[in-house]
Amino acid sequence: MERVVSGIRSTGNLHLGNYFGALKNFIKMQNENECFFFIADYHSLTTHPTPANLHGNVRQVLAEYLAAGIDPEKATIYVQSDVPEVAELYLLLNMNAYVGELERTTSFKDKVRKDPNNVNAGLLTYPVLMAADIIMHHATKVPVGKDQEQNLEMARKFARRFNNMYKHDYFVEPEPFNFGAELVKVPGLDGSGKMGKSEGNGLFLFDDEKVIRKKVMRAVTDAGPTVPNSPISEPIQNIFTIMDLVSTPDTVAFFKEKYASCEIRYGDLKKQLAEDIITVINPIREKILDNYNNEEYLRKVSRMGAEKARESAAKTVREVREIIGFKPF
Ligand code: TYM
Repeated sequence: MERVVSGIRSTGNLHLGNYFGALKNFIKMQNENECFFFIADYHSLTTHPTPANLHGNVRQVLAEYLAAGIDPEKATIYVQSDVPEVAELYLLLNMNAYVGELERTTSFKDKVRKDPNNVNAGLLTYPVLMAADIIMHHATKVPVGKDQEQNLEMARKFARRFNNMYKHDYFVEPEPFNFGAELVKVPGLDGSGKMGKSEGNGLFLFDDEKVIRKKVMRAVTDAGPTVPNSPISEPIQNIFTIMDLVSTPDTVAFFKEKYASCEIRYGDLKKQLAEDIITVINPIREKILDNYNNEEYLRKVSRMGAEKARESAAKTVREVREIIGFKPF
């Protein structure tokens, strides 16, 4: 049995990248393993949500987690800030994290490039907080998308460094996980790059049919193939990549053949893609609103999760304090 930990930032609605990169794997894993899934609301503070927005965002993500199929009877679902032990472990790990290595991470460099006026220390030490989340519960497997690969490498490094420093084989080195072996990167439909909340190209689990159709029909394409078997351009490949996730293999093969023989009509390709996305997300979307409005249920789930997560976290922090040498008088 594996110990599984993963989280999603509470900075808005969940999109297909979150779903296929992480959530779908979480859901499959909860049946056989000891799983901790949390809503990363401490992490969301790097982008300065207002107090009014913060709770609503957490509530939305919790409602979406449950709608997508995370089962609170099988897995521990909790809100990160309900487990303040994580902040203590983060502080302790920060003492052995070097500014140089943090500055070199791709996600930090990206953030600096995109928003040079908000380069806060929380962004710099983002991978340390993430490592604390993961190694707190001695996770062996972490279901994440491709964009988190480097952060996982950092978590492994911080775990190893702690063990070496205190000559104690204490923390487990967590591994990124995806059922298809390769970590997934879900692209946007705007030509290039990944789907993301801050990229403004999300296809959200909460989007209704009309919105999905509109977004998909606006997808960037090219002039179309004129020579049989010509290479597929990036925007079209992105459409096929999403199709691989939501459509049947026969459907994908059908459109690939049409492409190869230069008979493809991008309008038909998009229409099919939209319908197949709708089939995946419709049953989820219908449950989101019900969950969101069921305050009693959300309270019960988050309390139950917080209790279990704190128990695990308190044990780790107690042991870490002892290893480091803190002693009560
Ligand atoms: P976040 O909130 O940006 O994304 C949550 C999860 O969704 C995955 N994901 C994607 N996967 C494939 N293609 C995409 N376009 C795509 N966009 C997002 C992410 O890889 C991630 O698995 N730092 C994390 C949250 C976090 C965390 C953790 C995750 C905090 N502590 C500990 C795992 C373990 C984040 O910002 O993810």
